[in-house]
Amino acid sequence: MKMISVITGGSGGMGKAIARELGKDTAVVLAARNEQKLLAAQKELKELGYEVYTFQTDIQNEKQVQDLASYAASLGSIKNVIHTSGVSPTDTDADSILRINVLGTLYVTNAFYPLLAEGGTLINFASVAAYTMEPDSKWYEVYDSWNEEGFLGRLQEFLAASGDDPFFRAGFAYVLSKRFVIYYSQKNVLRFGKKKCRILSVSPGSYLTPMHQKLIDNQPDTAESQLDLIPAARWGHPYEIAALTAFLCSSGAGFISGVDILADGGQTANTFIEQLE
Ligand SMILES: NC(=O)c1ccc[n+]([C@@H]2O[C@H](COP(=O)([O-])OP(=O)(O)OC[C@H]3O[C@@H](n4cnc5c(N)ncnc54)[C@H](OP(=O)(O)O)[C@@H]3O)[C@@H](O)[C@H]2O)c1
Repeated sequence: MKMISVITGGSGGMGKAIARELGKDTAVVLAARNEQKLLAAQKELKELGYEVYTFQTDIQNEKQVQDLASYAASLGSIKNVIHTSGVSPTDTDADSILRINVLGTLYVTNAFYPLLAEGGTLINFASVAAYTMEPDSKWYEVYDSWNEEGFLGRLQEFLAASGDDPFFRAGFAYVLSKRFVIYYSQKNVLRFGKKKCRILSVSPGSYLTPMHQKLIDNQPDTAESQLDLIPAARWGHPYEIAALTAFLCSSGAGFISGVDILADGGQTANTFIEQLE
């Protein structure tokens, strides 16, 4: 039976680079909202000889995510699900960040859980931003109510308490949302294990993709101060996150589950641990 990798955000910087890796061994299904960008990514990958499908999906819509999962299952056996779809504070307001990053992760994880083939891997994309604030125990109390009515509203209450500055609120929403991505991936490790599958998250640092390019263009000072914190003294390359993802989906990574892989060029350690000269 044909093996399938589903890549949400498959038209984005990381998603497309990941498709170039996983497409060597499996057919790939690219999902995102903008159809033109999906078709352009499909064309590019088909030119490499890959088998590529697209499925227009807004990840904050549960029915569309379920339709994506059913479509992927109709094509073959789902070996990998790589959920990179996400939005950042550079161009997205706080409420949309919560809806897309939090609900998207819930919907993708839950829709693909019953369909992932034995030996399969699901990777949710979090962020180095999740490590920039000490998580409050109250966050986890709210995260634990992920399947209760009013869950999103309770997350929004944290934002309301954080003041009126829209930029600060969006940054805080991003941290809250990405910490949730890590939490929810870890919350699922036992049930995925019972299916002989793995689930984990990846927290990228700053990688040169369209998302990060917007930050460099619109907030050069912020970008500059980020670069100062990275011991590697450069931005990450999408091919590096793609190679990491391919490894994490391989049998060599068979014992890696229920963890967050922080791939940030040393930024977090350099920020929080006093360094030797
Ligand atoms: N680049 C970095 O430095 C960096 C750092 C830390 C974490 N990350 C995380 O890594 C992931 C990938 O980022 P990237 O740099 O590859 O970003 P990107 O180049 O902006 O790509 C984002 C992808 O997500 C899709 N997307 C956004 N909203 C969506 C929605 N509602 N439904 C479905 N798809 C949606 C976009 O397509 P459409 O807009 O067409 O839907 C696009 O394909 C994100 O989760 C991001 O938060 C990135």
